[in-house]
Amino acid sequence: MEESAIFEIFDGLPRQGPGLDECTEKAFRLIPALKPGFRIVDIGCGAGMQTRHLARICDKCHITAVDIYEPYLEQLIEKAREEGIADRISTVCASMDDLPFENKEFDIIWSEGAIFVMGFEKGLQYWKRFLKDEGFMALTEAAWFTDTPCAELFQFWQECYPAMKTIPANEKIIEAAGYRVIDRFRLPACAWWDNFYVHLEKRLDEVAEKFRGNEDGESTIAFSRKEIEIFRKYQDEYGYVFFVLQKKTQE
Ligand SMILES: C[S@@+](CC[C@H](N)C(=O)[O-])C[C@H]1O[C@@H](n2cnc3c(N)ncnc32)[C@H](O)[C@@H]1O
Repeated sequence: MEESAIFEIFDGLPRQGPGLDECTEKAFRLIPALKPGFRIVDIGCGAGMQTRHLARICDKCHITAVDIYEPYLEQLIEKAREEGIADRISTVCASMDDLPFENKEFDIIWSEGAIFVMGFEKGLQYWKRFLKDEGFMALTEAAWFTDTPCAELFQFWQECYPAMKTIPANEKIIEAAGYRVIDRFRLPACAWWDNFYVHLEKRLDEVAEKFRGNEDGESTIAFSRKEIEIFRKYQDEYGYVFFVLQKKTQE
């Protein structure tokens, strides 16, 4: 099967979605201290910028990094080796909706910019079984910051992620799925630019010629350019939110 162009276009970028080490760390510090040896799974880790930062800030944990695209995992491990933190990370190439783990295997589920692939509600429900009782989840999800988005912006997201919700609507889904919200915060605009869009814009220019005539490649490039333009114009109306959650014990 021919691989989707999106993987090749995003390959080699520092990260594959918005995020900042400072935000990863802020979310991690919101989780109460756990006993040494605790286990984190980072789902949809991409090239693993956040995985490596977690490994740097918690030397008493082990992180299992999961992605469907093996080359991202190879890049993650190569960088982790260079930084001397590879002993704290293992990788698993698997799909987030069919994970090869035991029930209650992890203390923390981490996932930056990836749960949308399954859908927010479905992901929360499916992943819960892999968390220990009272375990934690930290994830980012795109959300509306307004109830009345501009027409062009609304149309764009209707076409690519119609399930996007406001923060209160997401919190209702979280509670109904059996978690409590410990805290949440918006990612700043620089989390979109510094490690992501700045590099992606450059990459799109570099690969445009290579993908000329390739329908999948051309539409991925056009979509990514539009996504960046939309963020430039409307970044006050939507963005990523970091949610830090705790699994509720079953009554
Ligand atoms: C927007 S990127 C976020 C990557 C990384 N967490 C970051 O913030 O840079 C989404 C990631 O999900 C991965 N992915 C897509 N579909 C997947 C699936 N079914 N199972 C596991 N990972 C998947 C992609 O390969 C990509 O690395």
